[in-house]
Amino acid sequence: MCGIVGVTGVGDALPYLLQGLQKLEYRGYDSAGVYLSDASGKDALIKEKGRVSKLAEKAIAETKGFKGTAGIAHTRWATHGNVTVENAHPQKSADNRFFLVHNGVIENYKELTDTYLQGVHFVSETDTEVAVQLVDKFSKDGMATPDAFRKMISLLDGNSAYGFLLVDHEDPETLYVAKKKSPLLVGVSDHGNAVTSDAAAMIDLTKDFIELRDGDIAIVKPKSVTIYDEAGEQVNREPFTLEIDPEDTDKGAYPYYMLKEIDEQAVVARNIAGHYYDDEGNLQGIAPEITDAIKKADRLYIVAAGTSYHAGLIGKRYFEQWAKIPTEVHIASEFAYDQPMLSDKPFFIFLSQSGETADSREVLDNVKKQGFPALTLANVMNSTLTREADFALPVLAGPEIAVASTKAYTAQVLVQAILASALGNPGFDLKAELAKVAVEIQAITDEKESFKKIAESALKNQHSAFYIGRGLDAAVALEAALKLKEISYIQTEGFAAGELKHGTISLIEDGTPVFALLTQKKTAGLLRGEVAQVAARGANTIVFASESLAKDGDAYVLPEVNELLMPLLAVIPAQLIAYYATLDRGLDVDRPRNLAKSVTVQ
Ligand code: F6R
Repeated sequence: MCGIVGVTGVGDALPYLLQGLQKLEYRGYDSAGVYLSDASGKDALIKEKGRVSKLAEKAIAETKGFKGTAGIAHTRWATHGNVTVENAHPQKSADNRFFLVHNGVIENYKELTDTYLQGVHFVSETDTEVAVQLVDKFSKDGMATPDAFRKMISLLDGNSAYGFLLVDHEDPETLYVAKKKSPLLVGVSDHGNAVTSDAAAMIDLTKDFIELRDGDIAIVKPKSVTIYDEAGEQVNREPFTLEIDPEDTDKGAYPYYMLKEIDEQAVVARNIAGHYYDDEGNLQGIAPEITDAIKKADRLYIVAAGTSYHAGLIGKRYFEQWAKIPTEVHIASEFAYDQPMLSDKPFFIFLSQSGETADSREVLDNVKKQGFPALTLANVMNSTLTREADFALPVLAGPEIAVASTKAYTAQVLVQAILASALGNPGFDLKAELAKVAVEIQAITDEKESFKKIAESALKNQHSAFYIGRGLDAAVALEAALKLKEISYIQTEGFAAGELKHGTISLIEDGTPVFALLTQKKTAGLLRGEVAQVAARGANTIVFASESLAKDGDAYVLPEVNELLMPLLAVIPAQLIAYYATLDRGLDVDRPRNLAKSVTVQ
């Protein structure tokens, strides 16, 4: 959570910082702030509640005539303290000498305050202010700034994940950086250097980035970068060149990233096939060490959160049916503190778009301590979960910016299918079928108008809705419901249809929208019965059925691919319905309230 960006040695820092914050807004958008300085010591601190665009207006107005050559900036997802201007970052020391932005949580901030900062006047309720006041205190005790910064870091509780970026007003073009289990990169160029939570936020300045490791402290100046490792030794870390087309992180002609990302799913499916199959149709890109390690296991444990967890529920079917390995799927935040009884030879698969989800990281830490092997499937490679697992495979959805995950879900399902096919025979030509999936995803996304109409008629003025299904459709129903509720705020439940009569059916009222996903032949008759039962109680039933199971009156007929791959198609109408229902309510599709894209706190 929270996005950090900093630049130094650039002609005019503010445009870089504001543009960077816009790109980092997915990490939190309760409030934002920027601190600018130049070599002469002139400076400005501007903070604002709400979105980066509000900060931008204020910052441009308040800095007229002043060009900061260095600066730090932050977009916040509140943890300690309400959403107020005072609690927004940068936080500063009482004497206005040090300015700090922070991503993470300082677990022992109260103890640190009691021990070191008695009598210090705090203006915010944040744990971050404790960190900057500590640096100031140690500096007043006679320490040089790098030592004061290092000492502050050394006092943090061992569990604290953090990313810090500090400026000392007495040396205003130097940025002090520290990182642990929170992504932070140093961007290098011959016209200034940068620090950022996500490389995509700084691609206007450079494509060359140094990845900091946990425990690193970096001192970034206009023309130099010096890095010290956890032991305090100076180290040389080679930059890598980011292979990213700036257009990938732009909305282009789309009104919202979510719609762009829904539309990209056909291309993503093709890209994944292109990566994992050679021209002859042979699998490639999955190292034999990975399949060998999985084959030694007697049970797979898929661990993930939210949408990625839902993708895991689909993957389970592939690993069990094709690879013949019993598979359990677990919610990371539960598994972390209530580990179930494990089999003799477990193998862990972590699924994650961001690769930074704190709940999943906690589980990975635990299973590593127990010596169990783990593979991460992530969209963001070089992320913490990919680095810390024994193995990693890319999910290849491309940058996903909208908070509601769409293409990362389909990509995770696809990559799990391909991995399972490397372990056992699906009994059909998966590559050919995936080509068909891509074509049919395209066909569904081309019918946006139909889903817009359904969304506007079925969901107008509704405060609750249901998605139901059986088997794989029940798993898709969970994802479909999450999509709708998280962005439209319509309370939506995803349900295994057979469970309705055991309690939930009492919620059905006249006109309650019940979307039924009907793609699994074995249970189609039963599901039709459940649709009739809710209709008899007044529900407005909207059925999305695959071609061979469709009946007159169904709202949409899904093209048919292999039944086990139908989740890849069934989810698309649900994504589009969530999008259009949200648009119809005049809400911000890409930035739903209270959420952030990368959930780096537990
Ligand atoms: C919902 C959504 C979240 C994420 C979850 C896990 O649309 O995106 O539920 O799936 O926070 O995040 P990752 O996949 O980054 O581990």
